Amino acid sequence: MTTKIDRPLGCLQPVSIEQVVEDPEEVRDNARKNGPYFMPARYLISGETAADAKNRTPRVVKDAPSYLIGPTWRGDWAFDGKDLVEDSASLLHHEGFIQAAKDLFHCDVVVPEQVYVNLSTPMNGHPFSHVDIPEFIGVNRRNAPGWFLQAMGSSRLFEDARISIATAVAWFHHGERGFFRYWPHGRGAESIRHEDMWNTAVVGDNDFMHHLVERVGPRDMGPPEGMSINTELSHDGDKWNIVEAGETLMSYSDEYVRLSVSWKAKVYADQRSFDDAQNELSAVSVSEALQRFNDELGESFVSLDDERLQAALTQRWSGYVA
Ligand SMILES: [Fe+2]
Repeated sequence: MTTKIDRPLGCLQPVSIEQVVEDPEEVRDNARKNGPYFMPARYLISGETAADAKNRTPRVVKDAPSYLIGPTWRGDWAFDGKDLVEDSASLLHHEGFIQAAKDLFHCDVVVPEQVYVNLSTPMNGHPFSHVDIPEFIGVNRRNAPGWFLQAMGSSRLFEDARISIATAVAWFHHGERGFFRYWPHGRGAESIRHEDMWNTAVVGDNDFMHHLVERVGPRDMGPPEGMSINTELSHDGDKWNIVEAGETLMSYSDEYVRLSVSWKAKVYADQRSFDDAQNELSAVSVSEALQRFNDELGESFVSLDDERLQAALTQRWSGYVA
């Protein structure tokens, strides 16, 4: 059995961390060294699963919808519990994150899986808050696309198979703005704006807690013209460059680039529930998941490749709120 968790306020109450690492400049240094960075949606719409993302060179994508193109780039530093870049182990096994996850979920077993960084150049705030993409026993990042998992989470039809995931987001940003807003008492209630973006973190129930990134940089600065979903961000030892097909569209000094580090761990009440999850007790299969959706929608979809399915699920159970 998975662990049944009550969320009377819509989500568990996040835990703040005042000091994430001893040497925050080192994290920024690692970010400068480990480019280039890719737009996150490039993995999703190229048909690659999140698991494929670990090879860190996504396919070139043609004709991406424009709403997926924005000045935020991602790099995977650890995946499936394995380090992908040097010096990421201390973040993957961060004791403060692990302890906060234990406190948040009242659980004994925390299995850190992912560390990734997001880098944003000056931009407007996100118009939507979102919850993160969840995973389920039997349906996960390996066999289902993000929009399907998102709908599974938002529908609440699969709580029997849900895997609890703790997320820490840490910031290493000295520049203007780039605040983090989150709704710890439900999306309809008051939100909190986290403003200290240097070496702090919030560990939360981000598969249930809505959150968004506010404006980054000065009000009159936006991304350059001419970006596509294949536009990359990298540092040349002197400055950050936004590069499209070999051409630099814009360069920024370090203070204009907001860096966040995300950490995700699966959490289990105890060893027994961890073992049960490994043995796929209470698993749901992709076809069972499809059947549950069909029952709820009065539809008869048979394949994840049916384009109408994505539209139907996303329309009814989006993880985004304007
Ligand atoms: Fe998120």
